[in-house]
Amino acid sequence: MPGTTTNERLLEWVNSWAEVLTPDSIHWCDGSQDEYDELAASMVEQGTLIPLNDAKRPNSFLARSDPGDVARVEDRTFICSDDPADAGNNNNWREPEAMRTEMLDLFRASMAGRTMFVVPFSMGPLGSPIAHIGVQLTDSPYVAASMRIMTRMGQGALDALGESEWVPCVHSLGAPLAPGEGDVTWPCDSENKYIVHFPGTREIWSYGSGYGGNALLGKKCFALRIASTMAREEGWLAEHMLIVGVTPPGGETKYVAAAFPSACGKTNMAMMIPSLPGWKVETIGDDIAWMKFGGDGQLYAINPEAGFFGVAPGTGEKTNPNALATLSGNCVFTNVAQTEDGDVWWEGLTDEPPARLVDWKGQTWTPEVEAPAAHPNARFTVPAAQCPSIAPSWEDPAGVPISAILFGGRRATTVPLVSEALDWEHGVFLGSVMSSEKTAAAAGAIGQVRRDPFAMLPFCGYNFGDYFQHWLDIGKHQGAKLPKLFYVNWFRKDPEGRFIWPGFGDNARVLKWVLGRIAGTTEAIETPIGMVPKTEDLDVAGLDLATDALESLLAVDVTEWQKELSLIEDHYESIGERLPNELRLQLTQLADRLAN
Ligand code: GTP
Ligand code: SPV
Ligand code: MN
Repeated sequence: MPGTTTNERLLEWVNSWAEVLTPDSIHWCDGSQDEYDELAASMVEQGTLIPLNDAKRPNSFLARSDPGDVARVEDRTFICSDDPADAGNNNNWREPEAMRTEMLDLFRASMAGRTMFVVPFSMGPLGSPIAHIGVQLTDSPYVAASMRIMTRMGQGALDALGESEWVPCVHSLGAPLAPGEGDVTWPCDSENKYIVHFPGTREIWSYGSGYGGNALLGKKCFALRIASTMAREEGWLAEHMLIVGVTPPGGETKYVAAAFPSACGKTNMAMMIPSLPGWKVETIGDDIAWMKFGGDGQLYAINPEAGFFGVAPGTGEKTNPNALATLSGNCVFTNVAQTEDGDVWWEGLTDEPPARLVDWKGQTWTPEVEAPAAHPNARFTVPAAQCPSIAPSWEDPAGVPISAILFGGRRATTVPLVSEALDWEHGVFLGSVMSSEKTAAAAGAIGQVRRDPFAMLPFCGYNFGDYFQHWLDIGKHQGAKLPKLFYVNWFRKDPEGRFIWPGFGDNARVLKWVLGRIAGTTEAIETPIGMVPKTEDLDVAGLDLATDALESLLAVDVTEWQKELSLIEDHYESIGERLPNELRLQLTQLADRLAN
């Protein structure tokens, strides 16, 4: 069943890979509802998907992954540039030809006994001048179905491609079947994963994992790692950012993008219901922003994705009601717990857990069990169009003009609730020194503070020194009307270890201050680290917050920041010799301001 395309190079590429991977059959995805339903039905039969209670959550499924395949694997993610310096110290580098040889050995006959899906997809609205096309080969029906939710997948993407170039993505679970061999519910090669990028040829090869960013190659691999290298060459930005429209009562909508590391609040902020009366926040995207300069000098952003692949734990009626409403049907949940009436549950969905559950590993779970019922990186996959707060402009092919960019992370100390950069270069400095406590979104130790510049540490496809330079160059774009840059921290804690700031819908109070700064109507205090709100300018009406709490949220403690200086020096040391001099100068200037 070949796809309806006359693109000879695409047909040849598919055939030549089929010879290597030797699937039993090839299925070109057309992206139709019928096809999705057939994929789902075959996975239900296989046991990969469990249908949920149709009366409660129509057309929705639960998948339980292999316990060895639950998150992105950063130590198995590689950038194969010709020169290792082009990958930078921020990436694992391998020599491209050596990596091809090593992986071809694994790919050879790795789809035996399985169907190879050919998945054409567009990142960005079909035909948008900011969008790009990819084609993914995969032997995972779960991935093919997820790609239909997460991207514009199928015949429409093939039509948009026409005779032009695409980003070639090859993905295999690494679990070939011998004739007559029975399958498992989550096939993978958990001990032997490879997430590999060849920026020179814009290719992506992924082996061994069927989960999230490892396997849905349009997302982190294409829309961030490969796209960041394309953006550098072509003068635009591919960033790990949410995009929202913010409208004050009776006022004009301003668009704000925000870069927070994985599991640090992007989806929550993207769907925020503001606690301030009369304010409106609308969702454009929750994870990735592609931004290009318009003729008017403004940066215009699109969300290249069509769905949300969001963290389930912590998503509740109080924290993110819009996410729950989005999840009313047509979703795939992975690694959440199942209730006795055939629905889903995770930590934070309700205050009290149900008396009895089946946990993410398929075991009986009761509240006495110490381990969580849902995996901390359990996720939902759902069409973005279902979100009640989706913006009317979310699929505008021209994108939306960005007025402010926020940087942020999880920091229990030191970093105030919000500060504004002194200028573009200082803002790039702030982005380059972003830090956060590690979360469950990637395999590894949780809680440790690590530097995560621009929330791109796991996602920048090239040397961070060059990437910072690219951000500085964006600031020098002829006639640019640049967004203002801010640094936020919702996660400061009191000595007892409790969050001081209520967060979620109350983050709108910070957005109000940001919009006041954009309009030039709100003042700020200059501190050594940037412009900070006057306590009276932060609208905390109706909040149960002691005055000293507000002061500690906004505090810039010189001693703490002096400790931070040496950490930033170490971080800059680790970037290597391509660190731009402008940023070294920014660090010296910060040290001077702190000393005075
Ligand atoms: P990725 O999809 O991994 O890129 O994550 P994300 O940045 O979209 O994070 P998400 O919004 O899913 O939030 C992850 C966790 O942070 C959830 O458990 C949230 O409940 C929690 N969280 C989000 N916003 C806030 C906030 O303002 N305050 C506090 N305390 N927690 C928050
Ligand atoms: C992240 O880790 O930032 C995610 C989830 O958005 S994944 O798609 O698995 O990368
Ligand atoms: Mn993310």
